[in-house]
Amino acid sequence: MKNSIKLETNPNIADIQMPENLALAMKVMQFRMKCMKIGCAYDYAHFAFGASPFGVPELMQQALKDHAAEGQYGPSVGMEPLRKQITRFWKMHFQMEVDPDRIVVMPGTKQAIIQILTLFKGPMILPAPSWTGYLPIAQLINKPVIKLPTMPESGYRISAEGLNEVASKVDGQSMLILNSPNNPTGAVYSKSELKQLAAVARQHNVIVISDEIYSLITYDPHGYTSMASVYPEGTFVVTGIAKYAGAGGYRLGFAILPDNCTEQQILDFTKVGAATYTNASIPIQFAAVKAYDLGEEMSSYIEAQRNIHRIMTIDLARRFRELPGVDATTPEASFYFFADFEGLRDKLAAKGIKTGMELEHLLYDHPHHIAMLSGESLFMSPESLTLRVASVDYDGPATMQAYLDDPPKTAEDERAFVETHAPRLLMGVTRLQRWIESL
Ligand SMILES: Cc1ncc(COP(=O)(O)O)c(C=O)c1O
Repeated sequence: MKNSIKLETNPNIADIQMPENLALAMKVMQFRMKCMKIGCAYDYAHFAFGASPFGVPELMQQALKDHAAEGQYGPSVGMEPLRKQITRFWKMHFQMEVDPDRIVVMPGTKQAIIQILTLFKGPMILPAPSWTGYLPIAQLINKPVIKLPTMPESGYRISAEGLNEVASKVDGQSMLILNSPNNPTGAVYSKSELKQLAAVARQHNVIVISDEIYSLITYDPHGYTSMASVYPEGTFVVTGIAKYAGAGGYRLGFAILPDNCTEQQILDFTKVGAATYTNASIPIQFAAVKAYDLGEEMSSYIEAQRNIHRIMTIDLARRFRELPGVDATTPEASFYFFADFEGLRDKLAAKGIKTGMELEHLLYDHPHHIAMLSGESLFMSPESLTLRVASVDYDGPATMQAYLDDPPKTAEDERAFVETHAPRLLMGVTRLQRWIESL
């Protein structure tokens, strides 16, 4: 060492885990890259990573190219043409009136969540299971976290009673993370469920951060309701282009602020944005205008990706449910479901496997090579033998082209579509079956 300066880490950081989904995805990617060079006979069944396989729609790519020269800074709340386009899209797709002045565009949905949790007081109420991303954010900004358990019998949905139980114990304001459509379960909350949650939220001063990033992957195009439509005064909607438009790496998300957000609080978003990221990338914002385009090209892309996710994910969840000792949620949206291996607990215990993480590692390792994310890394208790399954390990562009050329029409066609285009998903199920038989 050159001199005596010692670099001391912020003590918060030691408690933060590398999100397990990224860690697993990185390991599988490294393995596949090595295999491209030296060849490997036994690839992974990659059920661990949740990203769209379809690629960015052409019209977005073209907009990005057309605006590549625009290197100027922009308003930290986002460009007006984008905010106005989002408003038009919300009206047409979700029949909701959104004031463009209540939209704050940011570099990613994650950023929107960080900013809201930073700006508003009170502990974060986090359901179990939940997406891996919420907990590290709270740890990073020192936000207290209250766990909201859910039950497998109700498809791991938050109930009004459950919310009432935790929120009534908080002195003052709290902030509920609501994720519908849900990662990891694929559940979509109905309007009446949301109304019941809204009633509790009103009673106990609960602000809702409603993460609706999978709304455009709801299998029934009319099946999704936004929390903001039943609790407009207290809901922050956060969403972005990562999932439905295959553009996670573009880093573009936004928040729609609740009716009761004051002018000063809206200015606070500008202030924090200006003090941190300045503005979301301008060329990317032009591409995002096209992500919310109302024309035929974007509409047919959205429809195709929605249907392919429905076909793949429902079929895969059904195949999991048919495995002895395994249960799985029935997804209504997204490219995930949540699988429960509780029925194998005794057999697993006999092999020394007692926790979700041990199960994840066992299945990941040789000879199984099945990558799935443990419930434990999704805020479930360690002994829960649950795993999140993502259904996107297939050639997205080729599958989308095949769908557009000849969309499957019957249930039989859909089954054949999975068999033709998603062999790795089926290979994963076959491997699981063999492993279960060997227990
Ligand atoms: C539920 C949920 N919210 C937010 C995000 C992150 O979105 P973004 O990439 O726009 O930051 C993800 C990504 O996996 C997610 O699953």
